[in-house]
Amino acid sequence: MTYTRCGRGLPRSTMREPDRQHSPLVSVPAPRRMTLRRSATAEDPFAFAASVREGLAHAVKHLHCAWFYDEEGSRLFEEICALPEYYLTRAEERILRRHAGSIVSGLPERAELVELGSGSAAKTRILIEELLARNGHLRYVPIDIAHGMLERSSRALLEEYPLLEIHALAAEYQEGLEALAREAPTPRLVLWLGSNVGNFERPAAAQFLGRLAKHLLPGDRILVGIDLRKERETLERAYDDSLGVTARFNKNLLARINRELGGHFDLASFRHGARYDEHLGRIEMYLVSAKAQRVPITALGMEVEFAEGETIHTENSYKYSLEEIAELAQAAGLVPDQQWFDTRRAFSLNRFAPRPVT
Ligand code: TRP
Repeated sequence: MTYTRCGRGLPRSTMREPDRQHSPLVSVPAPRRMTLRRSATAEDPFAFAASVREGLAHAVKHLHCAWFYDEEGSRLFEEICALPEYYLTRAEERILRRHAGSIVSGLPERAELVELGSGSAAKTRILIEELLARNGHLRYVPIDIAHGMLERSSRALLEEYPLLEIHALAAEYQEGLEALAREAPTPRLVLWLGSNVGNFERPAAAQFLGRLAKHLLPGDRILVGIDLRKERETLERAYDDSLGVTARFNKNLLARINRELGGHFDLASFRHGARYDEHLGRIEMYLVSAKAQRVPITALGMEVEFAEGETIHTENSYKYSLEEIAELAQAAGLVPDQQWFDTRRAFSLNRFAPRPVT
């Protein structure tokens, strides 16, 4: 495997000896290929420090959600996905299983599969298998901020699918887009699953998708998993589960500040909060200070003061109505192509096409 930074030229794939052990009669299986690049910011220890300082010095305290996904956070998020209350993952997986054929239909044979926020890539396997069955080979470009998880999931996929070629990029979305823009135009299916779009403000989501669309060819498609508006109780339980996994995931942000920046947060004196704002159609996630306290963060040379009940805003998760999905596509300059739902209509998969140039 090769490691190169963004901006220093594109990586060259490394070839591994094909594994002949299990099939001695097959003459030459295709070589397995993989590259893993890490963006400059993904490696920058000062980016986290600067972002935490900015967020905690602000009048309305907040922390950016990209920092959730260190090793511990990525592990906890996998646990969230397996929770009975977190219906999103299973609903999306069911739609993928049921409609994999139509989801990839009409794509050019050479289309590569790009995924934003690939995580463990567990659900992606469904589409990888479908595309491999059709085309015999596939180039997969997973992009994720969590480099440890990215490397593990890529290795596991290579083990399982010898005809897969992987070009992984450890980077934030924005850098991922820039990297895509630098590559030669290739037919693509771009995946953005898990309702990750919901973690953007609505206008920012449209803007991001619009920028993505600019780098696409007319036959390309974007597949976006979007959680739907529904009753408060289901939503609030999905983000505040009975086992307290989501609470641990949220508090891991404070633990990470303790680990990496010499923070002195007492995790027991903060509690996890998730509340649905029906008007805005979003789940808001907080950490609430249970008492008045001052928390030194050594590496930042700062002391953060909290009033009793004061919050740190850590994430929004926007939910969409069908109308809002249509508006999102419109604002992004995308053409809604096809839409699929689970039987309970809790979740949606949306295939969009770039708007044809007239
Ligand atoms: N994209 C996920 C979502 O909005 C992220 C997420 C799930 C999350 N559960 C969380 C983020 C709990 C913070 C806390 O559903």
